[in-house]
Parts: sequence; structure tokens; C-alpha cells
Amino acid sequence: MSSDTTRATDTTDSAAFWENHYAGVDPQWGTRPNAVLAEAVTALAPEPGGRGDRALDLGCGHGGDALWLASLGWDVTAVDVSATALERVGAGADAAGLADRVHPSRHDLARTFPDGAFDLVTASYFHTPVEIPREQVLRRAAEAVAPGGLLVLVEHASLAPWSWRDGHEDVTFPSPDEVLASLRLGDGWRTERCHAPERTATGPGGETATVTDNVIAVRRAHQD
Ligand SMILES: C[S@@+](CC[C@H](N)C(=O)[O-])C[C@H]1O[C@@H](n2cnc3c(N)ncnc32)[C@H](O)[C@@H]1O
Repeated sequence: MSSDTTRATDTTDSAAFWENHYAGVDPQWGTRPNAVLAEAVTALAPEPGGRGDRALDLGCGHGGDALWLASLGWDVTAVDVSATALERVGAGADAAGLADRVHPSRHDLARTFPDGAFDLVTASYFHTPVEIPREQVLRRAAEAVAPGGLLVLVEHASLAPWSWRDGHEDVTFPSPDEVLASLRLGDGWRTERCHAPERTATGPGGETATVTDNVIAVRRAHQD
């Protein structure tokens, strides 16, 4: 495992919030891939195109998506602001024999972003109650997609009853079209998915509820 979990050295509001969050979360929570992300990637990028193809997972949490992508053969940079989450991703990679393909990398994405171009960029439920320039981060995510590569965003489009509301009961979500428009992609991109499917979500106590996600998948054209 190559790791630069100490790279974002400043303690930011995001780091403080999410460290506190992960300190109280079962380390097994979020270690399996998100079904909606897995469905989109399986359909649109079923396998890495070649040895060493690079994937970037933004706000990876405990690494369910990152570890799953690595198991498919992707070389995955797993980014989060929480050092605790990234330590758990590294431990999960070691345990699964995937340490050579999983690279935990600490960034407060409001401040810094991983270098390089990636064949697949994913962000599953990259939501935070901390004020950050989220649309700007997602536009930067699109910039990081290599020619021919894919960006897949999976976002909440409704709240489960057990989700944090940060004091707001009247939370509203953008439509998938609004999320797509906010990326300001211009020419040279093909929209593969832009919809809001429903799914059954399971909460921390095993309770279930029907929720809606926004799923946006866009592919960058190959260069001439
Ligand atoms: C709702 S969780 C989703 C985690 C994971 N993708 C999943 O689906 O289980 C949001 C994640 O984004 C991370 N995050 C929030 N703000 C961030 C920031 N400014 N920079 C980097 N990561 C951040 C959090 O630490 C957390 O792991």
C-alpha cells in the first residue's frame, strides 16, 4: 500500500467533523460497495481497460467502493479527509490482499486535489454538513478524468429517516439534470446516466426505507 495519509496537515472543519464522525462508527460500516455505484460501473466500465488503469474514489469513507474497484483490477487512489477512515481502508486492503492496488490519500478536497488523470473517477454520497465548494470539487473531479474515461456520481436525492439533517428538516436536493448542468462539461462528453432511481436503504440499526439517489455518469471523449 502506498499511502499519503498525512498529506493534508491542516486541521480543517471538515477534518474535525469527519474524524469525530468516524470515531463513533463501526469500522465494518461502509466496507461493501454501494450497489448503485457498482451497477453503473459494471455496466459502463466493466473492467479496467489495461494493466494499471487508474481509478479515483472521492470521499471514500471506509472504502467499500475503493476495495471493490481494486478487486476488479483497478489501481485505486482512495481519498478522504478523515485519517481514521483512510487507516481503515488501508487495513481492509491489507486484509484483502489488495494493498498494492489501493492508495489511501488524505485531502480536504476543498483545499487540495490528487494529481494526475484517472480512467474512472467516482464519488458516492459525497455529502457533508460542513460548508465546502462542493460543485467546484465535482468540476475538478471531471477535469481529472482521462480521455475516454468515466465520471460516476451517486448522490442522495432524498433523506433516509436516520440520516443527519444538521438541524434542517426541509432539506431539498437538486435534480439529476441540475447536478449534470453544475458540472459545466461543455463539448467532448457523453452522458451515460442521468436519473434518480429508488432503492431500499438499510440503516445502522437494520431498519429499512425507500430512498432516491441521483446517478450521473459521463464519459470524456477520446482525443483525436
Ligand atoms: C456520506 S460519507 C460517504 C462515504 C462513502 N463514499 C460511502 O459511500 O460510504 C462522505 C465522505 O466524504 C468525506 N468528506 C467530507 N468532506 C470532505 C472533504 N472536504 N474532503 C475529502 N473528503 C471529505 C467524509 O469523510 C466521508 O467519508
